[in-house]
Amino acid sequence: MVSPSPTPQGEQTDTQLAPNGRLRHLLTLSGLSRELLSSLLDAAQSYLADPGVLPIRSRALEGRTVGNLFFEPSTRTRASFDLAGRRLGADVLNLDVNTSSRKKGESILDTIYTLQAMAVDIMVVRDASAGVPAYIARHVDDHVSVMNAGEADISHPTQGLLDLLTIRQHKGGFDKLTVTIVGDIQHSRVARSAAEGLMTLGVGELRFVSPPAFAPDPALVPGARILDDLDEGLADADVVMALRIQRERIGNLDGIPGIDEYFARYGLSHRRMQKAKPDAIVMHPGPMNRGVEIESSLADSEHSVITEQVRNGVAVRMAVLEHVHNTLHGT
Ligand code: CP
Repeated sequence: MVSPSPTPQGEQTDTQLAPNGRLRHLLTLSGLSRELLSSLLDAAQSYLADPGVLPIRSRALEGRTVGNLFFEPSTRTRASFDLAGRRLGADVLNLDVNTSSRKKGESILDTIYTLQAMAVDIMVVRDASAGVPAYIARHVDDHVSVMNAGEADISHPTQGLLDLLTIRQHKGGFDKLTVTIVGDIQHSRVARSAAEGLMTLGVGELRFVSPPAFAPDPALVPGARILDDLDEGLADADVVMALRIQRERIGNLDGIPGIDEYFARYGLSHRRMQKAKPDAIVMHPGPMNRGVEIESSLADSEHSVITEQVRNGVAVRMAVLEHVHNTLHGT
């Protein structure tokens, strides 16, 4: 059997687009046009209701089935794809991986073919191995779509979209903004997808701040400034995003600073945020480690838009589910 392997970004773009330029799958934000990203953000915005008001629903996916296949832990992404599918009228299957036949050695493709035979129309996949979503996308039937719900340290496109939407809601646009992302950049799929989306939408300046051991490969984030001094990275920033240390993707934990030292040098706090613009927003994709990469009271402060990111996540996933459905079933 052919095994999944990292797929070059260009090939992922070819795989995920239909001949008319619409998304057939969502594998990566890399290579998507500014117009397509903006139209997905507009669609997501239309699915947002005020807090406390009943969520917006539609029947766009009535009769279809969305399968959630999370081979890595998740709270936000899995729950929001589940709610997004239901609010569009779809049936949603949440496969319990810990009790699935993958534990008995079944291959990922055999699992996919099994669900395909049960008329699952959209496979939402999270996996720790690079290349799995694209690999599945190349093997499913023509009427099936694949959503990347988090792929190794490579890509998390719906997280990128919800981050873009949150920034746009607060700042209006991107071209005059300085966006600073601080933390374990090297192992972060969130940082990669945010960078891809922000660069396409023409962000003014993108800065990555991390200990040298967590710095990104400059070739993977062209145009970004890579720094190891947090005060320099925060100077006059409009948007600041903190990332946790992704211990599950770090083979050798030796050399990682202790919590107190890490927080002192790279933790976001009210004091450090004084370097940023007074109206700067604070973001975090979650899950948060309070007191490690972010001061607990800052995460709950008026600067924080973290719960808005979560709220936007449902709307973004509704928008992309409806988009790929319409690509294949034509409205
Ligand atoms: N941001 C994010 O992907 O969170 P989960 O791991 O909880 O889905």
